[in-house]
Amino acid sequence: MAETEAHLLVGVNAPDPKPAYRRRRDECPVLRTGEGGSAVISRYEDVLWALRHPEVFSSDSEAVSIGNERPLIPLQIDPPEHVKYRKLLDPVFSRKRMAILEPQVRRLAAERIEAFADRGVCDFHGELAEPLPSTVFLQLLGLPLERLPYFLELKDGIIRPEASATPVSRETTGRKIYALFEEALDARSAEPGEDLLSWMSEEEVDGRKLTREQILDICYLLLLAGLDTVTASLDCFVAYLAQHPERRRMAIERPEMLDGVIEELLRSETPVVTVLRVLKQDVTLSSVELKAGERVALLLGAADSDERSFDDPERVDFGRRPNRHLAFGGGPHRCLGSHLARMELRAVLEEFHARIPEYELAPGVQLQYSPGIRQVSELPLVWSARA
Ligand code: HEM
Repeated sequence: MAETEAHLLVGVNAPDPKPAYRRRRDECPVLRTGEGGSAVISRYEDVLWALRHPEVFSSDSEAVSIGNERPLIPLQIDPPEHVKYRKLLDPVFSRKRMAILEPQVRRLAAERIEAFADRGVCDFHGELAEPLPSTVFLQLLGLPLERLPYFLELKDGIIRPEASATPVSRETTGRKIYALFEEALDARSAEPGEDLLSWMSEEEVDGRKLTREQILDICYLLLLAGLDTVTASLDCFVAYLAQHPERRRMAIERPEMLDGVIEELLRSETPVVTVLRVLKQDVTLSSVELKAGERVALLLGAADSDERSFDDPERVDFGRRPNRHLAFGGGPHRCLGSHLARMELRAVLEEFHARIPEYELAPGVQLQYSPGIRQVSELPLVWSARA
């Protein structure tokens, strides 16, 4: 995946990727990246069609391998099999369930922000955007909070192995992830609690309890899908708000707009830039013939700034209605964690702005966005410290 991504994402991980997106859509809406590479699809209507037709654009494990030994559940299972896993998992991640979690998430966010609010400077990425979603995840699964650094190491080992001080293969990291969840499941079965791991151990699909392997395949995916994505969104949102003070003040002064702010920043930043598929049938998109067996990258970022589908797409408009962005994907594999993600984004932005309404990027900082998932390795902010 790394090789393919490096090739297809040229220009797309710039601080402002929109010019690169526009070139792709206008000049080559279906771009072939060469021998063994993926075809990159960038127009909104084409991307949406692909997302909605999994019988043509399959998500099975040929589309992407991220160190896992078996297909990830539910991401690498195509319909109709896919439906039964979503039926099981959707209620656990519903808007209602996430609302119950919200006070706890706010408390965690407030504690972290209080730790640096008087300092007048922080690394927003390292001190808040990265640890917060992971802490929420550990609590949700019922895992010990002292394992946080190890979790972050494992997730980075899969998502950005090249950035590690001591790189190991994704397969090696993958084995450590399975071992970690095995150990946690043993602990939960000895002493069940009110957490997701204990719950999964009791649940049934097709009238049979989930097997240990099925639970591991769900947990592996949750670890990779639920942590980096919220971190990246927080990085992208706060980097934008730090550099657009008028917009930030508007968002703070009109709290009723916050949901619109989040949706519009999800659209304009689209932190998960691409999703991957493999073709199960020949198909023609934007007059280009694609063949069964080809691998395909759907460029969600480019789709979300397509002027064929959005008015004035390069303008950030917090009042945009409707806002049918694809930041959470679309079709059957649309993000399972969207309610959790929105709740975390809202809680962090509100708690942060309540304590630190005026801030900017530290002088001289040049933000470097990673490809694939748009996050920064550091986001230094400065503000006037409280007296
Ligand atoms: C703002 C944060 C997030 C963004 C931008 C995001 C984005 C996405 C996208 C684009 C997909 C579609 C993947 C595809 O079609 O191949 C997806 C799927 C998924 N996401 Fe998220 N996600 C976020 C947060 C979360 C969280 C917090 C969780 C944790 C529960 C989560 C769990 C999942 C799962 C399990 C899938 C696979 C669903 C399926 O295959 O049916 N995501 N996400």
